[in-house]
Amino acid sequence: MPDDRLMSDLGMKTRPPEAVSESWTAELIREVGPETVVKTNEPLSRRTTLRVGGPADALVEPASESDLRAVLRFCRVRSLPFFVLGRGSNLLARDGGYRGVVICLAHPHFRRIEVEGTQLRCGAGARLKAVALEARRFGLAGLEFLEGIPGSVGGALRMNAGAMGGATFDVVQSVRLMDGEGRVREWVAAEMKPAYRECASLKTYLALEAIFRGEPSAREEIEKRMSQFSQKRWSSQPAAPSAGCTFKNPPGIPAGRLIQELGLKGMRCGGASVSMEHGNFIVNDGTATAQDILDLIELIRQRARQERGVDLEPEVEITGEPVGAISAAAGAQSWL
Ligand code: EPU
Repeated sequence: MPDDRLMSDLGMKTRPPEAVSESWTAELIREVGPETVVKTNEPLSRRTTLRVGGPADALVEPASESDLRAVLRFCRVRSLPFFVLGRGSNLLARDGGYRGVVICLAHPHFRRIEVEGTQLRCGAGARLKAVALEARRFGLAGLEFLEGIPGSVGGALRMNAGAMGGATFDVVQSVRLMDGEGRVREWVAAEMKPAYRECASLKTYLALEAIFRGEPSAREEIEKRMSQFSQKRWSSQPAAPSAGCTFKNPPGIPAGRLIQELGLKGMRCGGASVSMEHGNFIVNDGTATAQDILDLIELIRQRARQERGVDLEPEVEITGEPVGAISAAAGAQSWL
């Protein structure tokens, strides 16, 4: 079994990265059942809303918890980096792609939504929009804000995604998780210490499903709130490819307003520019590279630091490697 160093040595000195990954991806396919999808050299640009990112050595969509466990074991035994991809709506994947395994819980097994009374049991791969619509169908209020967040349940838990004054953990009761060894446990939401745009527990655990709770309410009320939120979103946020807000709001001023006040709307690096509609969005005109976006992020941060003494912290998760870096062991594991 190649260890980290050997894997990177192979990649660096003797074989192109494709050859290195092909040797283990064939073995990975043998470890999982036929329903589990394994793709090799899958461009992450296809899997992220920013539409940038080079290829992942392997992208796996496990069809069951046991296959997910097998993939985690495979990564552990080979010291392969991995990360969990949601809908890719808060992710900036670098142009060199990802040397390791990207796990995506998009199989229908992980997208189930079951409603019982005021609770919705939702798989980590379920879309937030689907959760919100199902809550509306059953007359359960409080989840309307999820409708406009273009993410999956797992991603929303990982970063405690929010909109319109609501945050994911406000409406989550408990979460079933798997650790890197494949062990499953269930936590009540408060134990997970969610904070603004983060949930530290989900850096080391992978969410399998969550129980959301709603408040019984008239369907028309829910519908009304949803369309108000949707209207607000369409009038204040761009429709062009983006990863939503780029930075967390710093104390004292929303990042979008700060960026506007700095006169940075419309600033461009290659195919990436600061949205004219909302200063905290970076949009891709269809030709941007990840490096364009990273350069733009850096320019914005510099200006905010120099001119206002504000340290803008990216909200967008950044993963993968720059073009030319080919070590399979270079990326740290993360859970997105
Ligand atoms: N503003 C400006 N100029 C801009 C953008 C905003 O002056 O270019 C002002 C607005 O007029 C408003 C204030 O800044 O007075 C806040 O703007 P907005 O209501 O758009 O909210 P936000 O704080 O920029 C947050 C979330 C969004 C979420 C919206 C709507 C963060 C980092 N962002 O944005 O979440 O959709 O509220 O509720 O917390 C995301 O996390 O990716 C995201 C898009």
